[in-house]
Amino acid sequence: MPSHLLSLADLSYSDIISLLDCASHLKEKRARGKSSQELNNKTLAMLFEKSSTRTRISFEVGMTELGGHAIYLNYKDVQLGRGESVADTARVMSRYVHAIMARVNKHETLIQLSENGSVPVINGLSDIEHPCQLLADLLTIREYKGKFKDLHFAWIGDGNNVCNSAMLACALTGMKMSVACPQGYEPNAEVLTKAREIGGRINVITDPIKAAKNTDILSTDVWVSMGDEEEFDQRLRDFKPYQINSKLLEQAKHDVMVLHCLPAHRGEEITAEVVDGPNSAVFDQAENRLHVQKALLLKLLS
Ligand code: CP
Ligand code: NVA
Repeated sequence: MPSHLLSLADLSYSDIISLLDCASHLKEKRARGKSSQELNNKTLAMLFEKSSTRTRISFEVGMTELGGHAIYLNYKDVQLGRGESVADTARVMSRYVHAIMARVNKHETLIQLSENGSVPVINGLSDIEHPCQLLADLLTIREYKGKFKDLHFAWIGDGNNVCNSAMLACALTGMKMSVACPQGYEPNAEVLTKAREIGGRINVITDPIKAAKNTDILSTDVWVSMGDEEEFDQRLRDFKPYQINSKLLEQAKHDVMVLHCLPAHRGEEITAEVVDGPNSAVFDQAENRLHVQKALLLKLLS
C-alpha cells in the first residue's frame, strides 16, 4: 500500500483487491454486530473546503467503529481560512493526528499536505479526483456482478472528478469504459492518458445512446459540480441529452446496474424512476463508502 491516497492511480490491482476483501470482511462483521478497536487512540483530521454528507459521515462513523476518533474541520473555522499556509497546517496537524482526510478545491492542496506533513493524506474529493468514491463503486460492482474483467462501464454526462477516478478504476480492474459527454466537458486529458498507460480501454464519445448500448453499468453524476455553480444555466442546456432515464436504460443489458455517487438531482442527470428503480445500486454504493474507507484507514494507519 502507498502511504497516501491522493489518486486511484496510487493503488495497484492487488492493493484494490486487498482493500475490497478487507471491506467485505468488515461489512460482514458489522452485520453480525461485532466491533473492533484496531484504531484505538488514533485520530483522523477531516478538513473540508466544500460541503459533504456521505464523505463526512462515513469517515467519522468509520473511525468510531474502529475505536478511533475523527475531528471535523471546516477550513473557514481553522487558521487556513485566515491565510495560514497549507504547508504549516500540514506540519502542525501531523504533530497531533495520525491521518488527514481532506476535501479541497484544488488538487494541489492535497499534494502540499502530503509533502509537508508526516502522516497519511486521503483525498476526500478534489477538482481532479474522488478515489474513495470509486473504491466504494468497485465494491458495489463486485457485490452485484461478482467480477470486473470485461464488464462494460458507461459514464454518461460530465467528464468531472468522479469520471476521472472511474477511468482509473476501469483501467486498473480490466473493465471497458465508454464516456459520453458533450464537447467541452471531456474528462481530464492527463488522467485519461494515465488510465490508458495502465491498460485502460476507454472510448470518449459524444453519443450517450452509443455509450449505453449493451452496457453492464451506467453511471453518472451531477451536471453542476461544487465550484461550477456560475455555469449553472449553460450546463443545464448542454447536458440535457445526457440524462439517465428509462429510455436510455433500454439500450443497456437487462440487468444493468445504475450508479450515482450522490447527491442526485432527480429530473436533471437522472430521473426519479431510475434512481429509485430496480436497476439502481445507489444506496448500496453510498453504504459501501463506510466499509471501504474503514478498510483504507486500517491499511494506512495500523
Ligand atoms: N458522494 C459523495 O462524496 O457525497 P458527499 O458530497 O455527500 O460527501
Ligand atoms: N462531481 C461532484 C461530486 C460530489 C460528490 C462535485 O465535485 O461536486
